[in-house]
Amino acid sequence: MNFVLYKKQNSMKQTRIFLTGATGAVGSQLVQQLTSLNIGFKALVRTPAQAEQLSKLPNAEAIVGDLADLVTFEYALHGIEKAFLLTNSSEQAESLQIGFAEAAHRAGVPHIVKLSQFAAHESSPVRFLRYHARVENRIRELGFRYTFLRPNLYMQGLLAFKEQIKYSGQFFAAVGNARVSLVDVRDIAAIAVAALTEPGHEDQIYDITGPEALSHYELAEILSNVLDKPVSFIDVSPAEMEQALLGAGFPEWQAGGLIEDYAHYARGEAAAVSDAVARITRKNPVSFAQFAQDHRFLL
Ligand SMILES: NC(=O)c1ccc[n+]([C@@H]2O[C@H](COP(=O)([O-])OP(=O)(O)OC[C@H]3O[C@@H](n4cnc5c(N)ncnc54)[C@H](OP(=O)(O)O)[C@@H]3O)[C@@H](O)[C@H]2O)c1
Repeated sequence: MNFVLYKKQNSMKQTRIFLTGATGAVGSQLVQQLTSLNIGFKALVRTPAQAEQLSKLPNAEAIVGDLADLVTFEYALHGIEKAFLLTNSSEQAESLQIGFAEAAHRAGVPHIVKLSQFAAHESSPVRFLRYHARVENRIRELGFRYTFLRPNLYMQGLLAFKEQIKYSGQFFAAVGNARVSLVDVRDIAAIAVAALTEPGHEDQIYDITGPEALSHYELAEILSNVLDKPVSFIDVSPAEMEQALLGAGFPEWQAGGLIEDYAHYARGEAAAVSDAVARITRKNPVSFAQFAQDHRFLL
């Protein structure tokens, strides 16, 4: 058996929170925010190097393991009160997440906070939205208390275009003129912190959006103003976008899923604005202009 627990040197109180996905876009913000609140947690990471890094934080324990190999982390779920479940969207995501939920159930974890997606539904034409709905259903079936976080498109997704924005002032997508209420991952993490640390989030589903719905042309206009240089959005066909994703090394299943995602945005199905960030975190959601300002050194 190949499991390793990186423990803090001194007497940490019994940790009640378990994180998956802690090294990713939302998870790394969640780690930062829990740490700044001095709240302890255990996190599953895949490599000893990630564990070393995490273990430098005052209230963190890292467990080296893999969601694909339950024996590497199942022992660490005993005594956990709330588990945060997140993976990237891959062809294996559904089985990895259901495997995690079943392991948490065996270990007696009562509550799962799952990172899902805006408009998750079993009969959606978007494969990501279908698998998220199936995982949500399995979590309910197992009798957990649950909090499903359903964020819209991440603002930080734009950072995939940082080189193009920096050097040619352009970014691309197959989305037309449709508006999307995109959200900053820092706000998603803040809601996850609330769900993991406060009562009152049992059996709740939160649609999580930014403060306004914007078209990609409007995003370009805001970027031009904030960066003080011309930035253009280029609308491309789904076939062109898929070719670009495959060319950039995305696996076929994932590229196909992103095309379905963007078709859903293009149909105007992701434009609703929710008040979840303000209501749950008692802070205004980050606007796209603020996001652009905060990341201007990258763009
Ligand atoms: N991007 C968007 O606009 C958007 C919008 C709404 C919802 N979502 C949802 O957000 C989720 C992705 O969130 P994110 O962007 O924060 O993820 P991310 O940055 O891609 O990070 C994925 C995390 O999952 C971990 N992971 C993956 N496979 C694992 C395994 N087998 N065992 C253990 N850990 C594993 C990764 O660990 P490593 O560091 O080891 O790789 C990493 O920490 C997806 O479910 C997606 O549907 C995304």
